[in-house]
Amino acid sequence: MRLRRKPHIDEKIKNFAAFVMPNEKLENINGRWREEFSDDTTRELHVELGTGKGDFITTIAEKNSAINFLGLELEATVVLAAARKVHEKNLSNVRLAVFDINHIEEIFSAGEVDRFYINFCDPWPKKRHAKRRLTYIKFLDMYKKILKPSGEIHFKTDNRALFDFSLEQFDLAGWKVRDVTFDLHDAEPPENIRTEYENKFSSQGVKINRCVAFLAE
Ligand SMILES: C[S@@+](CC[C@H](N)C(=O)[O-])C[C@H]1O[C@@H](n2cnc3c(N)ncnc32)[C@H](O)[C@@H]1O
Repeated sequence: MRLRRKPHIDEKIKNFAAFVMPNEKLENINGRWREEFSDDTTRELHVELGTGKGDFITTIAEKNSAINFLGLELEATVVLAAARKVHEKNLSNVRLAVFDINHIEEIFSAGEVDRFYINFCDPWPKKRHAKRRLTYIKFLDMYKKILKPSGEIHFKTDNRALFDFSLEQFDLAGWKVRDVTFDLHDAEPPENIRTEYENKFSSQGVKINRCVAFLAE
């Protein structure tokens, strides 16, 4: 799970060690996420995959102080930007990690996660790169193992081709979907929290697709 790191960014990230998980800690964390956050081990754990600069996770965490949120993001520079927001908002229910989602099974035990958020993941438009999409069946099968049986994936994307592909993959992997929309902002639910990419694409007139995938009957 180790990533090549930029030492000067790592130094800055260390200032936020209270909530940006160091690699050593990640290596022994599976099964212990709830203890990491607070003494209340009944709290739900919601995980955002590809957190970006943290607008979404810090806003949703602020509004839901009794839920634990973890943001996983490949790019250390971007995690640093998110960490500054967590610090500014003084959020005790957020953790961040510089982490490659390809290794997600290494840091959770079965059924440890209540919900995943996948917001505007890289579309990898070339067919030969389809396996890299975070909604490819291989990823969905990994998420299934670490999600509670009643758990959900909340998925948003501007990219219609990726959305259609993802609906197919959910079906192939045995997930059901609800709340499917091809134009989320046409009648935007008040509870929707926009991400950086969502604002960018929406301001360009691009429609936003969204669905919730789940496993339970
Ligand atoms: C298009 S951006 C979207 C960022 C944010 N979710 C938003 O909606 O504004 C996709 C993010 O996913 C991250 N990402 C891509 N592949 C990843 C992986 N395998 N593991 C962790 N993060 C990844 C990228 O570094 C990037 O920050």
